[in-house]
Amino acid sequence: MSDHAVVYAPSAEFIAQANVKGMEGYRELYAAADADPEKFWSEFAASSVDWAEPWTQVLDWSNPPFAKWFVGAKLNVAHNCLDRHLSTSRKDKIAILFEGEPGDSRAITYAELHKLVSRFANVLKGRGLKQGDRAIIYMPMIPEAAVAMLACARLGIIHSVVFGGFSAEALKTRIQDLGAQLVITADGGWRRAKEVKLKPAVDEAVLDCPTIQNVIVYQRTNSGAAMTEGRDHWWHELEAGVSDDCPAEPFDSETPLYVLYTSGTTGKPKGILHTSGGYLTQAMASMKWVFDLKESDIYWCSADIGWVTGHSYVVYGPLASGATVLMYEGTPDTPTFARWWQVIEKYKVTIFYTSPTAIRALIRQGDQFPNAHDLSSLRLLGSVGEPINPAAWEWYYKTIGKSKCPIVDTWWQTETGTIMISPLPGAVPAKPGSGTLPLPGVQAEVVDLKGHPVERGKEGYLIIRKPWPSMLRTLWGDPERFKEAYWSKFPGIYFTGDAARQDEDGYFWVLGRVDDVMNVSGHRLSTMEIESALVRHPAVAEAAVVGKPHEITGQAVCCFVTLKKGDHDVDALGKELRQWVAHEIGAFARPEEIRFTEAMPKTRSGKIMRRLLREIVTSHTVAGDVTTLEDMNVITSLAAAQQDED
Ligand code: WT7
Repeated sequence: MSDHAVVYAPSAEFIAQANVKGMEGYRELYAAADADPEKFWSEFAASSVDWAEPWTQVLDWSNPPFAKWFVGAKLNVAHNCLDRHLSTSRKDKIAILFEGEPGDSRAITYAELHKLVSRFANVLKGRGLKQGDRAIIYMPMIPEAAVAMLACARLGIIHSVVFGGFSAEALKTRIQDLGAQLVITADGGWRRAKEVKLKPAVDEAVLDCPTIQNVIVYQRTNSGAAMTEGRDHWWHELEAGVSDDCPAEPFDSETPLYVLYTSGTTGKPKGILHTSGGYLTQAMASMKWVFDLKESDIYWCSADIGWVTGHSYVVYGPLASGATVLMYEGTPDTPTFARWWQVIEKYKVTIFYTSPTAIRALIRQGDQFPNAHDLSSLRLLGSVGEPINPAAWEWYYKTIGKSKCPIVDTWWQTETGTIMISPLPGAVPAKPGSGTLPLPGVQAEVVDLKGHPVERGKEGYLIIRKPWPSMLRTLWGDPERFKEAYWSKFPGIYFTGDAARQDEDGYFWVLGRVDDVMNVSGHRLSTMEIESALVRHPAVAEAAVVGKPHEITGQAVCCFVTLKKGDHDVDALGKELRQWVAHEIGAFARPEEIRFTEAMPKTRSGKIMRRLLREIVTSHTVAGDVTTLEDMNVITSLAAAQQDED
C-alpha cells in the first residue's frame, strides 16, 4: 500500500449534485462537529429523526464508558422507518424491492410495509411478547426478515438476528445468552439453487433453551416443517384475521434496539448492544453523507441481515431515510456469475454496496459477466468489511463503475454501529485501499501504546477519542467485559482492535486486527471460538488457530492441532475436523486447512504463541523474538515442516 497512490477525485458533475459538496463542504461539516459535537449531533438529530418528546441532555458521559445519548427523549424506531413516511409522498414509494434466488420478485411500498409490520407486531403481542423481551431472528434474506426486525422495534422487543449460516450449536448459545423468549424463523431459504433448511436447526437448538416459549415459522420454500404443538406456529396462520392497526408507542431514547453477537478474543461471542435514538441518528447521517442518498435512488447493500451491515444499511438507515432498498436472497454465482449484474440492470440500481471478498471472487470469473449487462444506472459504489486491495478497487471502479462512480471504502465495526471512516463521495478524493478521512463527529486517531498520537506515516492503534451516538452501549449481560475489551488498553478511550496508519494527507490506512480475531470474507471470526470448537472433538488435545492470507477471502482459517494418544487416520481426521467446525459454528467458519503437529509453541506461562504460528503461515519463517518460547525445537520443526511443504 503506497502513500503515493493514485488519487481519484469526484467529477464536477458528481460534486454538483452531492449532499456534501467538495473538500470545503466536508471540512466545514467536520470542523463544526469537532468544535461542539453535542450541538452538532443535536441539530442533526432534531432535523432527521422524528421524536415524540425532546431530550433534556444531548450526551450523558458522567459514567464512562456507559454513554447515554439524547437523554429523556422518546421515539419509536419503527415509526421512524415507516409511519412518518405515510403522510408524505413516500407513502406509495417502494420501500423494498425483493429478488428471490429462484427469480420471484416483490415490490413493497412504504404503506404496505407498514401494514405488514403492524400486523406482525400484533401477532407478537398476541403471543404475549412485550417491551424488554428478546426475540431471535433466524431467517433467509427475504422481506419478512426486515418485517420481523421492525415489528420487534415497534414493540420495544430486543431482537438478535442470527445469520442463517450459523449452526444449531451457535444458535443455541446465542438464545441462551440472551435468554430469548421467541425465535422467528422460516422453513428455509434458497441458496445456490437448493433449499437451505432453517427450522431443523431451530428444533435442535431449542431443545436446550427452556426460555423459548414460541417459535414462529414463515413459509418461504414450502417444503414443510416439523411443528411442535403449542410451541411452533406458522406465521401465516397467526396472521390470519389480525388487525393492521398497531400504534407505535414512543420509547426512551436509550431503549435497547438489538443485540448482535460478534466474535471476540475468547471462545464466547460478545453480545453488542445498540439502543435507539443515537443509533438511528447516526445511521441517517451516514445515509446522507456517505451514500449521498437522494429520493430517486435505488439502493442495494448486498450484506445479509445477519451482520451489522444488514442492520444499519439494509434496514434501519435506508428505511428511516425513506429509500428504496433492494434485497436479494441468494449468492452472486447462481444461476451464473452474472446474477448481481443482472439484478443491477433489472432494477436500475444506483447505489451498490458490497465487500472486497465478493469483488475479488467476481473479478476471477472474468469481465464477460459484468460486460454483458447495462450497469449505467450506477452512480455510487461502496465497499465494507475489510481493507480493499488497490487492484480490486481499480477493477470495481473501471469495470463496474465505468470510471464515473465514486467508491466509498467504509471502515466501521459491529460495535460502532455505523460508518466511521469513509470518503464523502462528492467531497473527499479517494485513494484505492484507504478509507480516507473520519466522518463529521468522529474523532479517529492512530496512537502508540501510551495513547499518544503517532507521527504521520507511522503505524499504531486505531482509537476513537470521544463517544459517538451510534456506539455500542455495553455487552449483553457482561459490562465488565465491555470495559475490559474496549476501554482498558487506553483508559477512557475506545480501542477498535485495529492497527492503522495515517499518511501525509491524514488519510487512514487500516492494516487489520491486532488481536486474535480473523477477518474471513469480511466476517469476523475468533481464533478462540474455533479452538474451543476443535478441542470439544474427542481426538483433539490442543488447537491453535490463525488467519492465513487468502487471495479471495482476505484471510482463511488455518488450524494447528495436536492429537490425543492413539492411532489416527490423519487424512480422514482432517476432513472430519473441518466438518466438525462447520457443525459447531457454521459452514462459513469451515477451516481451509488443518495441520497436525506434535506440540505447540508456548510461552513459559503456557500460552500458545499464535504470533509464531501466524508467521509460519504468512512468511513461512520465524523471524520474531522467541526468547519466551518454552520449546524452541517445536517452532523449528514447525517452520521446517512448512519449508518442506513449499
Ligand atoms: C472489522 C469489523 C463493518 C461491518 C462489517 C464488518 C474490518 C471493516 C473495513 C474497511 C479495513 C475494515 C476491521 C474492523 N473492516 N471495514 N473498510 N477497511 N478494514 O464488521 O465484523 O464488526 O468487523 O472489520 O478490522 O475492525 P465486523
